[in-house]
Amino acid sequence: KPDFRVFPSPAAIADAVAAYLAERLTAQPATRLGLATGNTFVPIYARLVARYRAGGFSFVRAASFNLDEYVGLPAGHPASFRAYMQAHLFDHVDLPAGKGALPGVEGDIEAACQAYEAAIGSEGGIDLQMLGIGRNGHIGFNEPGSPFDSRTRQVDLAPSTREANKGDFPAGEVVPPTAVTMGIGTILEAREIVLVAIGAAKAEALDRAFRQEASPDCPASALQSHGRVTIFCDSEAAGAL
Ligand code: GLP
Repeated sequence: KPDFRVFPSPAAIADAVAAYLAERLTAQPATRLGLATGNTFVPIYARLVARYRAGGFSFVRAASFNLDEYVGLPAGHPASFRAYMQAHLFDHVDLPAGKGALPGVEGDIEAACQAYEAAIGSEGGIDLQMLGIGRNGHIGFNEPGSPFDSRTRQVDLAPSTREANKGDFPAGEVVPPTAVTMGIGTILEAREIVLVAIGAAKAEALDRAFRQEASPDCPASALQSHGRVTIFCDSEAAGAL
């Protein structure tokens, strides 16, 4: 049974998730993190950076692997997850260069995805995987229909996902049609998973993920088979639960 923690506001969630990460890095500085992007994580990283600046823990022995990245964006593109991670976390903490990895999106993408899986394995696997959730129940960029045993790979984005993420792109730019993402199988191998969901727009996805029978129609429902999942959400997202 997933552990649901319901908070009164987005700010309270951000505080709680940042505290959770800071406590983990304090107790286990060599934690292998799986990190997520999206609007949900912006205030979480801001509070994590504030805690880091206040002292008491470090990222110097940690490593992180990001879930996903768009294919086809030039380096430094403001909507790329690389730029997001730099701006919101990596530029502000002592995570060693090269220890904050994203799946490769240039050259032979299939080979890069396999190398990414191998890199996760050579770090001993992911200890704590952070996840947001898409309105359609996607995790990472595993859209509905993704097999529960899928691995890191290139995927087509759902039209609704491209629409939902349009606001992250400069006006007039199109959201790339494809991305690379850790697979659902990759995600399920993490020792622990924390999923964060805020707002009424996520209520249906949470309901389908955790209250209904698991099905590839709702990728997040794969998490029902994982023994250690904690969900941080507000009462709006928890609505249907
Ligand atoms: C994006 C990301 C997901 C993220 C989700 C929700 O497309 N690929 O990893 O969890 O959509 O994003 P937001 O937090 O902005 O709602």
